[in-house]
Amino acid sequence: MATALRPSSARGSGAAPKAPARIRGPRGHLIAGHLPHLRRDSLGFLTACAREHGDFVPLRFLVQRAALVSHPDAIEEVLVTRQQQFTRSPSLRRNRRLLGDGLVTSVGELWRQQRRLMQPAFHRQRMAAYGDVMVSRAEALLATWEDGQVRDLHQDMMYLTLDVVGRTLFGTDLADDAARVGEALTAALARFEERLFGLSVLLPENAPTPGNRRFEHAARQLDEVVYGIIDRRRRHGAGGENLLSLLLEAQHDDGSRLSDKQLRDEAMTLLLAGHETTAIALSWTWHLLMQHPQAEARLLDELRAVLSGRAPVAADQARLPYTSALVTEAMRLYPPAWVISRQAVEDCEIGGQRVTAGTVLLMSQWVMHRDPRFYDAPEAFRPERWLEGLAAELPRFAYFPFGGGARLCIGNSFAMMEAVLLLATIAQRYAFTAVPEHRVVPWPVVTLRPRHGVKVTLRSRPPYHPHKRTC
Ligand code: HEM
Repeated sequence: MATALRPSSARGSGAAPKAPARIRGPRGHLIAGHLPHLRRDSLGFLTACAREHGDFVPLRFLVQRAALVSHPDAIEEVLVTRQQQFTRSPSLRRNRRLLGDGLVTSVGELWRQQRRLMQPAFHRQRMAAYGDVMVSRAEALLATWEDGQVRDLHQDMMYLTLDVVGRTLFGTDLADDAARVGEALTAALARFEERLFGLSVLLPENAPTPGNRRFEHAARQLDEVVYGIIDRRRRHGAGGENLLSLLLEAQHDDGSRLSDKQLRDEAMTLLLAGHETTAIALSWTWHLLMQHPQAEARLLDELRAVLSGRAPVAADQARLPYTSALVTEAMRLYPPAWVISRQAVEDCEIGGQRVTAGTVLLMSQWVMHRDPRFYDAPEAFRPERWLEGLAAELPRFAYFPFGGGARLCIGNSFAMMEAVLLLATIAQRYAFTAVPEHRVVPWPVVTLRPRHGVKVTLRSRPPYHPHKRTC
């Protein structure tokens, strides 16, 4: 029987409140629990759990108790109203080797201090300058493209967003490091997948398996890149307006500076969290645009009407509602962060269901963003739904690509502006056609990458002249 939590007051859950029923989840393996199901098809499995078993589905991964929470009000309880009763999940904590005690992984007072320290780098006043860098780096990439070339757009987007993060947040050029960062990140994700879903989870974390050795190599490569960035910044003097300068100049209450390890952890976190997700959002947007020529035509109409062929600036974001809706809709269907989790630190109640201390609660953007209770034709790509006031009607946590509550993504405005400006810059100059035999499939590990990239053929567009009609 499906277990419905309290229905939201807003838009159409339709279900009347039901008394909590005895909750049954899907049948699991005697020892591994639901790990094999997750391993086989994480997106399909979690979606089936929510649609067939309700808003609160008990699960087990080996000895780890878990539950999938799929009601906006219950997600709000976990992330906002009862956040004190939860902490970061064990899988994130296990990733200390890479992220250390940076902003994503840290908790308590350390997290609060770091968040306060970094917030100014994401203030609105900084955005205009960041916007100029974003557009100029997109133009630099376009200068290397040629009509008729076959390229992997996802790789280009990864390169571009890394370039942007390097220059805006670290005041440095990461061109020489891009390949190393790319390879290391893929190796790290593969190892994460192996430890999350594979039997290697039963081995000690530093067991000398081939996967662990590849991961250690990748982590060392990333360490080198990050310590290199910090070194360069120190040698050129901390000054400048970027995030790294803020960190280098920051002082604890007793006057001491951040340790090298702390600087490394923060910079690594920002480097990784700050580029891959935005690249993924763009890759899926391009993929969807290629399949929906009418959406592409409407995008071009808006760009011509608003920009008349000129490069966009930060202030244009507000004047490009359809371009923004494209990104919003792409992140609905393919949320770059497709699941987030929290572990209960004490016994509590979520959506009327008892949660015992230690249980991990999963909240999936993939599942929620395709929930037919909140979206008409949930599987359809319809950017215009966002122009019709949907955002105001939706319960707060029916759409949460950037998470929510105190740990809301610190880079959400940065990412939205970047996605809109890069889309506007690139779409004015090039159209793409999908390479026919290339399949674009989601790879749900930490993020939702297109597994084999997005291979396209480039078609350059003729320059737009406002008084001439172009096709
Ligand atoms: C489309 C792009 C992005 C998406 C979809 C995204 C998604 C998310 C989500 C869902 C969280 C919350 C995770 C949780 O609650 O467990 C998060 C946190 C975070 N994001 Fe993003 N992010 C994006 C871009 C960025 C950018 C551009 C930056 C930095 C420049 C960034 C830095 C961070 C950091 C540091 C955190 C941790 C914040 C904290 O715990 O206080 N993200 N992001």
